[in-house]
Amino acid sequence: MNVRITGTGSALPARILTNAEISQMVDTSDEWITTRTGIRERRIAAEGEYTSTLAAEAGRNALAMAGVAAEEIDLLLVSTVTPDFPFPSTACIVQDLLGATNATAFDLSAACAGFIFGLSVADKYIRSGAVKKILVIGAEVLSRTVDWRDRNTCVLFGDGAGAVVLEATDGEHELLSTHTFSKGAFWNLLYQQGSGSRNPATDRRTIDEERIYLTMEGNDVFKHAVRAMEEASTAALVANGISGTDLSFLIPHQANQRIIDATAKRLGIGPERLVINLDRYGNTSSASIPIALDEAHRNGVIKSGNLVMMVAFGAGFAYGSTLVRW
Ligand code: COA
Repeated sequence: MNVRITGTGSALPARILTNAEISQMVDTSDEWITTRTGIRERRIAAEGEYTSTLAAEAGRNALAMAGVAAEEIDLLLVSTVTPDFPFPSTACIVQDLLGATNATAFDLSAACAGFIFGLSVADKYIRSGAVKKILVIGAEVLSRTVDWRDRNTCVLFGDGAGAVVLEATDGEHELLSTHTFSKGAFWNLLYQQGSGSRNPATDRRTIDEERIYLTMEGNDVFKHAVRAMEEASTAALVANGISGTDLSFLIPHQANQRIIDATAKRLGIGPERLVINLDRYGNTSSASIPIALDEAHRNGVIKSGNLVMMVAFGAGFAYGSTLVRW
């Protein structure tokens, strides 16, 4: 069976948090954040807004575009590192919110590369003939994982969700390749300290000793990110016998403008072929690529026949790429 993307959707909290506002909270400035990261503002979930509610809204929008009813979905994947709860899966909560009653639903954890890993899993489910319609969602509420007193990390992240509907087709294969990589030796350069089995939320010391927040070695992560984004991109280009100049668009994970620029330069891709929304949303982890894809698709930037590569890098390390003929 071949695979087509038939719908895209996204959802963002209404609340905008600007660099100027963050400058009132920690010792930073709009100038520092903009020049070092490219981020100008990010969205922050309101009380009562969760990963599941954002995911469901993005999913609903993607289903509407595809013209697919929620009950038709066979498999519902939610990629997230900020689930509503450790269990059940956020995917099960989203299944309930959408009424996707016939779906198998589960979460997938590959941090900022989660959406690419989700596409890879979905591709294999459809190609094997196991299922026909899949909803893949990347959704995060990172604002509830960071220490808002830590200027090294709090300026970087934002909340949001993006989704795609994938369907089996007898026509042309549109998901040309998926590549995924993991390098677990580097897990401790970027991780969430608290609420798992090492620093459980049930142990008072987790809170008292502040072993709870997202923690990151920014400089190290930066260097690995540039190399890994190139490695994953090159894998897709080589597998498809093309070069960077053949791509219509590159949709990179939106973590830092400097990482994106370095990746694009290594691949020979000019700024006119980059899809960027980092300035408006910051790093939304696994939601960043599907949000950017949805915006570029809805705005008519990506057109039928375009060759679009998506590439992501994140904690784990986990990284990967997908090439799509739109
Ligand atoms: N405002 C002002 N100063 C800040 C700051 C902020 N928000 N954050 C850090 N600084 C300071 C540091 O304290 C340091 O000061 P010092 O020299 O007095 O110690 C100085 O800026 C330089 O810090 P450094 O970490 O070298 O800056 P950088 O140019 O590497 O930029 C990051 C920092 C985090 C933006 C960058 O390393 C990065 O983007 N890393 C990758 C992060 C990422 O993408 N993570 C997710 C992967 S999916």
